[in-house]
Amino acid sequence: MSNQTQSINILAIESSCDDTAAAVLSNGKVLSNVVSSQLIHELYGGVVPELASRAHQQSIVPVVDLAIKKSGLNLNDLQAIAFTKGPGLIGSLMVGSSFAKSLAYSLNLPLIGVHHMEAHILAHFIPEKKPNFPFLCLTVSGGHTQIVRMNDYFSFEIIGKTIDDAAGEAFDKSAKLLGLPYPGGPLIDKYAAEGKVVYNFSQPQIPALDYSFSGLKTNILYFLQKQVKENKNFVNENLHDICASIQDAIIKHLMKKLVLASVQTGIKNIALAGGVSANSGLRNAIENEGKNRSWNTFVPPFEFCTDNAAMVGITAHYKFLANQFETLDTSPSARF
Ligand code: KG4
Ligand code: ZN
Repeated sequence: MSNQTQSINILAIESSCDDTAAAVLSNGKVLSNVVSSQLIHELYGGVVPELASRAHQQSIVPVVDLAIKKSGLNLNDLQAIAFTKGPGLIGSLMVGSSFAKSLAYSLNLPLIGVHHMEAHILAHFIPEKKPNFPFLCLTVSGGHTQIVRMNDYFSFEIIGKTIDDAAGEAFDKSAKLLGLPYPGGPLIDKYAAEGKVVYNFSQPQIPALDYSFSGLKTNILYFLQKQVKENKNFVNENLHDICASIQDAIIKHLMKKLVLASVQTGIKNIALAGGVSANSGLRNAIENEGKNRSWNTFVPPFEFCTDNAAMVGITAHYKFLANQFETLDTSPSARF
């Protein structure tokens, strides 16, 4: 028992978008990591915020319960409750934060609020191989595309970002143009693996370390309209090559600025984070570029790429050590 009183055991909850997730960490080690993905949105071609909030309400109790059971701990063994404070869908965030606050109040435990994108980056401190500071993190999700210079756990600078769509949106919107269901990113990845890069989409010309994906999307739209006019089965007959070409265009743009950021800052510790870091083409591109440029690369294990609560838990672990707690009157923020 004396061991347990010295441990930092944290229950973490993530509910920012369309995954209800809970994890238990002990001293920064993941004991359990449960994710329940909401399939209902597939019917609508994108996340419907009100449906997401309702699905979180239905899932949160069983998901937390399962995370506690799988961890082998009891509620009484916990030292803190963590939750995603933002950014995200406000209704979804409210479900997770209200639940976390109630539980913290009833167990008389401190509460830790976590920034979703910071959590994606700090997920790199879960595996044995952890990055040294400073490192650059290409953070690519459904809502964000940023190059972040991490100076310390909670000290960072965003040195490049998208001026319009996020990389995940570029994948999902392109997939939609091809008639694929939401979220289309993983499907483009899957079909691209069996295709060749045969179509050239123009690369965005954006200054400095910033990104832009909206022009690429329009480029793909016009290309498809032209081809389908000539052959109405064009998409079906060439799906794998189209996906490989779209994926290649997105990755080239992501890599170009990341390479530039490394050259400009002289930082060779390079990490990848966020849902799009699950993309096999991007993972390979970073590893290959890394070999050529003597980078020390950090690509997260798949379970910590897309939204999960273990990443919230590891961020909360460092916040616990830094005494960064919330009061019970805290509220989530969609644009945190
Ligand atoms: O981080 P995340 O799970 O949720 C947000 O915080 O947005 O990222 C979701 C995004 C979606 O756009 C999804 O299509 C994309 O990540 N994604 C992928 C892959 N897996 C997830 N995009 C390309 N290839 C993948 N394998
Ligand atoms: Zn995310």
